[in-house]
Amino acid sequence: MIPQPLSVRPQPGFAATAPISTGVDPLLPAEGYVLDVSSFGISIRGGGPAGVFYGEQTLRQLFPGSVVPSRLPCVRIEDRPRYAWRGVLLDVARHFMPVPEVLRFIELIAMHKLNVLHLHLTDDQGWRVEVPGWPRLTTVGAWRSCSMRGSRQHERYDDQPHGGYYTADDLRSIVAFAARRHVTVVPEIDMPGHMQAAVASYPMLGNGFAGPVRTAWGVSPHGLNLEPATLDFCRAVLDHICDIFPSPLIGIGGDECGVPGQPWFIAQMAAHLASRGRRVYGWDEILAGGAPRDAVVAAWRGQFPMEKALAAGHEVVACPDTSLYLDYRQSDDPGEPTPVGTLLRLEDVYAYDPGDAVLGAQANVWTEHMESARRVDYMVFPRLCAFAEVVWGPPGRDFAAFRERLEPHLQRLGALGVNYRPLSGPRPWDARAEAPGNPRTLPDRLAELAEMTANLR
Ligand code: ACM
Repeated sequence: MIPQPLSVRPQPGFAATAPISTGVDPLLPAEGYVLDVSSFGISIRGGGPAGVFYGEQTLRQLFPGSVVPSRLPCVRIEDRPRYAWRGVLLDVARHFMPVPEVLRFIELIAMHKLNVLHLHLTDDQGWRVEVPGWPRLTTVGAWRSCSMRGSRQHERYDDQPHGGYYTADDLRSIVAFAARRHVTVVPEIDMPGHMQAAVASYPMLGNGFAGPVRTAWGVSPHGLNLEPATLDFCRAVLDHICDIFPSPLIGIGGDECGVPGQPWFIAQMAAHLASRGRRVYGWDEILAGGAPRDAVVAAWRGQFPMEKALAAGHEVVACPDTSLYLDYRQSDDPGEPTPVGTLLRLEDVYAYDPGDAVLGAQANVWTEHMESARRVDYMVFPRLCAFAEVVWGPPGRDFAAFRERLEPHLQRLGALGVNYRPLSGPRPWDARAEAPGNPRTLPDRLAELAEMTANLR
């Protein structure tokens, strides 16, 4: 065994009876591990450094939820993940999240053995990455004069300017922090739709639009034109992104886009990324007209696009909105903040099974209604704990047993300062009367998805 530096430190009074040794055993799967707790001490062997790291996370979970050190049961745990892609999308475009909060989010997802952070860096409502030669993307595109409060149907606005962006160094620090926790950051520059912030910065990229960064939620009609200079702009942005992010996959969006010629545009961007040794990661809309052969498809509009993508030979990340969109409401309690989407309870996330054919799955955290890290915590936890078991453990899970395990885990999250949603429901101060929602029924949403994906039939 190759000795590894410890990241789990025994507490005083504990070390004398339980030394911890960690090491790599190449016979184990790279992300798998064997954790032994015996009266002689604790041993963690991982198939690779990630496996050791995951063994350490499990060791943390063997302690009770309180921070007080105590005795551990003697156990042997042999463990490995079900899926290679255990992802979370974080939308830092709708609400900017400062670097320390992104790092904290990464820490929390890594603790749950998740290994991909899909970072949604641009959208109609904000451009969050500085690009050399294109200063207005961040002097103009990173700021909006106000934001909607509540879902768009209510047309309510605050009067609070909002914005922020990351420098290349900020993003490199995020990538490095994540890498140390075995998390790959997959950046996304959403194109050719969801581009109003860029068009507001440089109207020549658009189709006659000369307005501001979008303050309303929902999809803007102001996408990119497909002029050669606009494609050069997109290539320059992707070059910069490739310089910062080592991820083999680069997200280029492709969703909810009315731009004619979108398949051609996606093919151009795929060819450019290929020249940089990278592959496209795109939403399932890129299947219309034929997605680039080696593109990885994020299937968000239900089972049908997922099956289409698999049948076309793509690797697929399952992220159906009705099972894995964590901005959707957690209960029908009137105290839930800004209830949108379909009902997505803890047990619904836990019951989701992505099947055996996919690369993995991803929970998506769209932040229109999460203006602070506290709001993100509330919407993400504990549903992300359920998701973590969906993508790590074998199928056939027992929700009652999970819920029992969750109680001490919530104490652990509480000790880390996570503003999780209590299992008993929202507290009075979680409600957001000033930001009303727009709850949907599942049959209505499924009918809408069927219509949205009819062009793939
Ligand atoms: C999406 O929700 N537009 C991917």
